[in-house]
Amino acid sequence: MFAQRVLSGMRPTGALHLGHYHGVLKNWLQLQNEYPCFFFVADWHALTTNYEDTSKIQEFTHEMVIDWLAAGLDPNNSTIFVQSKVPEHAELFLLLSMGTPLSWLERVPTYKDQIEKLKDKDLSTYGFLGYPLLQAADILIYRAQYVPVGEDQVPHIEMTREIARRFNHLYGKEANFEQNAILAAKKLGNKLSKLYLEFRRQYHENGNSEALEQAKAILEESQNLGVADHELLFSYIEGARKIILAEPHAMLTKASRMIGLDGQKMSKSYNNTISMREDKTSVEKKIKTMPTDPARIRRHDAGNPERCPVWLFHQVYTSPEIHEWVKKGCTTAGIGCLECKKPVTDAIIQEQEIFFSRAEPYLSDPTLVKNIIANGCDKAREIAQETMHDVRDVMGL
Ligand code: TRP
Ligand code: SF4
Repeated sequence: MFAQRVLSGMRPTGALHLGHYHGVLKNWLQLQNEYPCFFFVADWHALTTNYEDTSKIQEFTHEMVIDWLAAGLDPNNSTIFVQSKVPEHAELFLLLSMGTPLSWLERVPTYKDQIEKLKDKDLSTYGFLGYPLLQAADILIYRAQYVPVGEDQVPHIEMTREIARRFNHLYGKEANFEQNAILAAKKLGNKLSKLYLEFRRQYHENGNSEALEQAKAILEESQNLGVADHELLFSYIEGARKIILAEPHAMLTKASRMIGLDGQKMSKSYNNTISMREDKTSVEKKIKTMPTDPARIRRHDAGNPERCPVWLFHQVYTSPEIHEWVKKGCTTAGIGCLECKKPVTDAIIQEQEIFFSRAEPYLSDPTLVKNIIANGCDKAREIAQETMHDVRDVMGL
C-alpha cells in the first residue's frame, strides 16, 4: 500500500575503504537501478558513541559522501541526505520513545556487545541505549520496505518491525474497525467465525504464532469472503488496525569477500585497509609488504594459496586464468610472491581510476556536494513530513 522504497544509512567514518566498496556500496549501486533509494549519513548515530569529540563529524560526512559518489551513486537516481538535516527523525524518535519498553532496547545484541567492545568509552548513556530506536525512526519515517544491512543489523530491523506493529496497534484505531471486522467474520459461517476469533484471541494474548497461522488458514480456505472482507479480517488478526507505519524487511547484504591486508576483516580499527582513493604509491607499497604464506620463506620454497591472504585478493580482483597461474606457480615455486601480487596491484589501481575521476569535480568544488546533500534533504524531508503529519494526526497531537 505504500510506495516501494529502499533506505539505508552509514555512520560518518570519513574516507571509505575497499571493504566498504565491495561489501556495501556495490550493493547500493545495484539497488539504485531497481528501486527508489534513500541513502543517508547517520551523523546522530555517530554521536551515540562519540559524543565527546564532535570535531570531525562534518568533515567525515563530506568525505564519505564523496566516496559514495566516487563509487557511482547517482544523485539523480538516489536520494542522498544527512540525518541531522531532517529533524523529523528526532521528532518521531521522541514520540516512539514514549511507548517503547526498555527491555526491548536492552535485549538488542549490539547493545551489550558494543559496551563490552568499547570498554574505553562510557556508553552507559541514554543516547546509546536509544541507538536502535533512532534507527527505527530513520526507517519508519520513510515507510521503507527494504533496508539493506549487514547481518549484525538484522536485530535492529526486527525491533523496528515490532515498534511499527505496536504503534499501529496503539494508534491505528479506525472508527468501527472492530465492529466491521466482527460483521465480516460472521460471513465465514458460525463455526469458522468462532474459531477465527478464538485463534485471534490466542495470538493476541499469548503471542501464539501457531494460532496466528491457523487464523490465516481459515481465511485462505474460506470461499465466502469478498476481497475487502478478506483484507479486513487479515489485518484484524494481526491486531494492526490502520497501518500508519509500515513494517520494513531487512535485505541482507552478503558478507563481503573483501578481507584486509593481514587476512582479517578489512576494518579501520585493524589498520589493514586500502582506502577507495588511496594514492597509487601507497597501494603498491601496502600490497608489496602484505604477508604471504608463511611457509614461503625463500623464493624456491613452494607455497599454498589457501594459507595466503593475497589469494583472497585474487578472488576479488583477478580472472580464473590468473587463479590457475597462481595455484600452479605458488605450489611449484614457479613464481615469486612479488610476481604473484602484481596483477592484484594492477587491478586495484585500475579499479580506483574511476573513483578518482568521479571524485575530482567534487574535490575541486565542495559546493557541489553541499548542493547534492541539500537537494536530497529537501526530497527526504517532504516524505518525512508527510509521515509525521499522519503520526501526529493519529496520536491526536
Ligand atoms: N546502524 C547502522 C550501522 O551501523 C547505520 C544506520 C543508522 C542505519 N540508521 C539506519 C542503517 C537506518 C539502515 C537504516 O551500520
Ligand atoms: Fe601467496 Fe602468491 Fe606468494 Fe603463493 S605465490 S604465497 S599465493 S603471494
